[in-house]
Amino acid sequence: MTFLELAKLRFSSRKYKSQPVENEKILKVLEAARVAPSASNKQPWKFVVFTQPESLSKAYQMYHREWFKQAPVVILACAEVDKAWVRAEDNKNHADIDLAIAIDHITLQATELNLATCWICNFYVEKTKQLFNLPAHIEPIAILTLAYPEDNSNPERHNFQRKKLEDIVNWETFN
Ligand SMILES: Cc1cc2nc3c(=O)[nH]c(=O)nc-3n(C[C@H](O)[C@H](O)[C@H](O)COP(=O)(O)O)c2cc1C
Repeated sequence: MTFLELAKLRFSSRKYKSQPVENEKILKVLEAARVAPSASNKQPWKFVVFTQPESLSKAYQMYHREWFKQAPVVILACAEVDKAWVRAEDNKNHADIDLAIAIDHITLQATELNLATCWICNFYVEKTKQLFNLPAHIEPIAILTLAYPEDNSNPERHNFQRKKLEDIVNWETFN
């Protein structure tokens, strides 16, 4: 499979089999996050992995959707905001960018393993901080589901679900 084939195969799955995800596969997707690039190599991330019924039932409180409660594995991706690189010129903290790259590594590695994922950012942020006693310098950035999918991906969908290349790329000058 080429990289582009893999990228087109990834999709946001919201229908999962109850089949558990093997531990070695969970470790593999986490390894993909570990090797992700980050600004100034600060690696300002922490991942909380929920696999056990007790912790999962707590994790399901972060986001109220019935489909979410079917996920056998939930990963909470957090930023150590105070560890991230900050650009001097405008004080821009790069934690969000770094986390997005690491999370996307997870989604693509999962796809290669025939696993499904769904990014979730519309979760209850304050509740999440309370549920897991997150320290003040830790910001929950996104939740990711990890599961065997019940639904299928259609790689052709990118032909109509994405903007056209000419609408997003300008060559040599912005306008
Ligand atoms: C940063 C980010 C946040 C997202 N948050 C949610 C979310 O809270 N709930 C949800 O169901 N999907 C969420 N999604 C999934 C997007 O809706 C989905 O990626 C987009 O519609 C494109 O579809 P695809 O992932 O199947 O290609 C999120 C995706 C990204 C990248």
